[in-house]
Amino acid sequence: MPGATDETHFGEQTVPLADKQDMVDGVFHSVARRYDLMNDLMSGGLHRAWKSALVTAVNPPKSERPFALLDLAGGTGDIAFRVVEAGGPGTRVTVCDINDEMLAVGRERAAERGIDAVAFEQGNAEELAYPDRSFDCVTIAFGIRNVPRIERALAEAYRVLRIGGRFICLEFSAVDMPGLDKLYDLYSFQVIPRVGQAVTGDRDAYQYLVESIRKFPKPKAFARMIEDAGFRRVSVTQMTGGVVALHSGWRL
Ligand SMILES: C[S@@+](CC[C@H](N)C(=O)[O-])C[C@H]1O[C@@H](n2cnc3c(N)ncnc32)[C@H](O)[C@@H]1O
Repeated sequence: MPGATDETHFGEQTVPLADKQDMVDGVFHSVARRYDLMNDLMSGGLHRAWKSALVTAVNPPKSERPFALLDLAGGTGDIAFRVVEAGGPGTRVTVCDINDEMLAVGRERAAERGIDAVAFEQGNAEELAYPDRSFDCVTIAFGIRNVPRIERALAEAYRVLRIGGRFICLEFSAVDMPGLDKLYDLYSFQVIPRVGQAVTGDRDAYQYLVESIRKFPKPKAFARMIEDAGFRRVSVTQMTGGVVALHSGWRL
């Protein structure tokens, strides 16, 4: 993990910490237009169930009660649209993402669906432009793995949450089911980059995806990082044999 040193990893490569964000941005610029299609193809539609579990945890009020969610690294708005659909008329979502191309796709999708409860704003999760304690909930789905300085993003999520607010992170995790682990590795390294090449024309982007998953901290270590950022009642729920994990913590 990036710490006192000024190097980190970009997939399997060791790179200067200062270079990683540009490399990540290149990946998502390249795949933005086909990003949602690839999620369905790669996961066989499973990402929808994982995202539903996240939305259930967010639990937006059905009433008119105001509820402000910040969806970090929210990309094309998938989580935001689901939360707005699940919530009442007081639910508002701010999608914050560093990549203007992902946000452009999200804005187009919102316009097509006639959704005006979602704002798409460009920003870096490591350095948010929002005031202290301004959101009821902060989510990040399949995003934290891409952020060079994870500790900074967690500290910022904590800062912008109101007291009593919840941080929820959905991320690829470590498969812990004997048998499934080998199958998962085979699928990840042999199939996903090839599908990525066929659908987006960018094999390397999907090679980065599978490598970055392997580099991400294991559930207990990531839970500790969330605690270190100040969150309490931190919990982890693994899904699909550990393919993904839902981490949660409260600002108390
Ligand atoms: C795998 S996509 C996830 C998109 C969306 N959350 C979803 O679940 O479909 C990762 C996103 O993280 C964004 N990202 C990477 N680094 C970021 C940073 N430092 N701050 C904010 N967003 C970032 C990328 O631009 C990309 O849109």
